[in-house]
Amino acid sequence: MPTSAPSKYTFGHAMLAHWPLDPAILYLNHGTVGVVPRVVQAAQDAVRAEIERQPARFLVRELADVGEFVMSGPPRMRTAAAAVAGFVGARGEDLAFVDNATTGCNAVLRSFDFAPGDEILITDQSYGAITKAANYVASRTGAVVRTVELPYPATTSSAVVAAIEAAITSRTRMLVIDHVVAGSALILPVAAIANACRARGVATLVDGAHAPGALALDLPALGVDFYVGNLHKWAFTGRPLGILWAAPERQAGLHPTVISWGYLLGMSAEFDMLGTRDPSPALSSSAALEFMRDIGVDAMREWNHRTAYGAARVLTSHWGTEIPAPEAMYGSMVTVPLPERFGTNREAAGKLKDALLFEDGIEAQVGAFKDRVWLRIAAQVYNEPSDYERLRDAIDKRG
Ligand SMILES: Cc1ncc(COP(=O)(O)O)c(C=O)c1O
Repeated sequence: MPTSAPSKYTFGHAMLAHWPLDPAILYLNHGTVGVVPRVVQAAQDAVRAEIERQPARFLVRELADVGEFVMSGPPRMRTAAAAVAGFVGARGEDLAFVDNATTGCNAVLRSFDFAPGDEILITDQSYGAITKAANYVASRTGAVVRTVELPYPATTSSAVVAAIEAAITSRTRMLVIDHVVAGSALILPVAAIANACRARGVATLVDGAHAPGALALDLPALGVDFYVGNLHKWAFTGRPLGILWAAPERQAGLHPTVISWGYLLGMSAEFDMLGTRDPSPALSSSAALEFMRDIGVDAMREWNHRTAYGAARVLTSHWGTEIPAPEAMYGSMVTVPLPERFGTNREAAGKLKDALLFEDGIEAQVGAFKDRVWLRIAAQVYNEPSDYERLRDAIDKRG
């Protein structure tokens, strides 16, 4: 990773002043649901206060244009979407807000015109909730969900592309692929994968739940059909907030899971108005982007990567285990195997995760996969290397 311009902030524990985290807990799990910075919380509160000054006007005439009422200005959801779109290299009209990655993936899967016998391809590292959504859609349409096993450990980008290419059949209609895998933390080569899929007439839905903020994104350049991401994990927005991007030629027929006033009025109108709800995460998203830019987006990514990968190197050499993939396949998180003495299954992983939290005050992600217990090391600018020494000592005393 190239060295970026330094941040004007001092990264590490001094940054904790900008987040409302409980000082009694060592927070090493930014990835799971994100943590909303204080300045973004304040912006979100200000939006809520503004709404309550004239709620009917705000929610009916300012928020979203569904052709029913005279608007008092440009729809606020569109202005917010345009700002976020700029952050991910996209046009505002191709991007809609969704509550979260689950909602966005559901919208795509449930809108797609699957026929009996069609295949939806997922991987053995797909996120469980999304796999369930694919199974649900298959059960309603007669499609079949097929799982491709990704090479792991000893993973390389080219081996991942090859595994997916080999799994595509003449019946495959859609591939659902993670950009950053929740469990293994691998960054998958989604542009190369999309390229291979396109050549075979297979649509790609990228589940980028962990990508916005953590990775530099140029969504149109990826060559995918649909891209879903969370902003509330690594892009510092209020919760819940995600994005759904669709290639222009894929937008017809794409509907939210909730049908409301915008039905058949185009992607923006369909997704901007889902009935009465709290739009404050979307409408305060510019404060999150501003905070991130103020910190320095590149400096943040570099710190997070160096801290997470550095900790992974130290911990694997301490435990005599291996980092499963090349450094370039990791961003702000690196998942490493624990030695076998820490167990091999979900029960052992759950016990360790609970013990870290309830006995040592450490919030960290521990899981089980392929008969091993794994630790997902995540880093945010408020973390520093000593945090992972504390984590190592807390784990060591249990093995
Ligand atoms: C790869 C992946 N997909 C989907 C999700 C679901 O995110 P959400 O619960 O915000 O919808 C997650 C959450 O961690 C994830 O890691």
